[in-house]
Amino acid sequence: MTTSNQEEVLQYFKSKASGYDLVEGQVYWRLSDQLLWHLFDGNILSQLNESFHFLDAGGGTGRWSEKVLRSYDSSTGIIYDLSADMLEQAERKRQNGLESRLELRQGNIERMSDLDDGTFDLTFSFHNVLGFVNSPQEAIKEMARVTKEGGHVVSVIPNQYHCIFFNLMLGRVEEAVCAAEKGKGRFTLDMPYMHLFTPSNLRELYQKAGLDNIGIFGFPVTIYPGMQETQITGSTEKIENLLKNSDNYTNIYKLEEQLSSRGEIAARGNNLFVIGTKMEGQK
Ligand SMILES: C[S@@+](CC[C@H](N)C(=O)[O-])C[C@H]1O[C@@H](n2cnc3c(N)ncnc32)[C@H](O)[C@@H]1O
Repeated sequence: MTTSNQEEVLQYFKSKASGYDLVEGQVYWRLSDQLLWHLFDGNILSQLNESFHFLDAGGGTGRWSEKVLRSYDSSTGIIYDLSADMLEQAERKRQNGLESRLELRQGNIERMSDLDDGTFDLTFSFHNVLGFVNSPQEAIKEMARVTKEGGHVVSVIPNQYHCIFFNLMLGRVEEAVCAAEKGKGRFTLDMPYMHLFTPSNLRELYQKAGLDNIGIFGFPVTIYPGMQETQITGSTEKIENLLKNSDNYTNIYKLEEQLSSRGEIAARGNNLFVIGTKMEGQK
């Protein structure tokens, strides 16, 4: 059974699914993805045994699962997602040589009763999935449950402070006040409201789920999306003009790579990136 919040999420991704991967054509998201891969690969993937098994919770069209599987030849994974429309896109990637290494399951990541405790070396959830669930705490607990002791739980989630800034930048004062006071917000008027997070409440959610060695980073921390980057295609003129020059792109990327490794700047991130480890003796 789906709740009314899930119905709204499903409708939203139904309309986005077929064009979702077009974001890769936008220069801002290429920079953001490059930074995310740097954080993910450097802190987690490169440290795992080569035949690691992962869960991509809310993996959608499979953009990140595919990248992990193509970069690490012996890895295998499962994408778990509520939306049949998003999974339909992931299935195309699976049928392109990943049939034996990638499995797709449709369901709610807050209750993955078909997955056993301690199954995965790595569980990750990227780009707002934890913003869309009914209870982020239940989802993180569930992600921790299916992860092996010593395994990692990694999430990329919407930063409350950035959502306040973004709405004010567009003159949407009421949306900014809602994000500040209720901890729920959105970037476009057609998307469902999402839970928003700060570095400290995220740490608490991870700790309550029995995760330790918690690291929280922000990215990008110096350059932010404009209105056009909230759409699937097109670029905000100022951003496009700045980043289309390849020297600028390289310099800004290097700056971002250095700064985003500093914990103290996390709260300036467009996104928050959090890693935690399941300690021994945690169920
Ligand atoms: C913005 S997309 C991100 C997709 C993918 N993680 C990525 O980074 O490309 C959010 C995804 O979360 C999924 N989702 C939202 N709520 C969910 C839930 N309760 N359980 C499983 N998936 C959910 C949506 O269907 C959608 O595919």
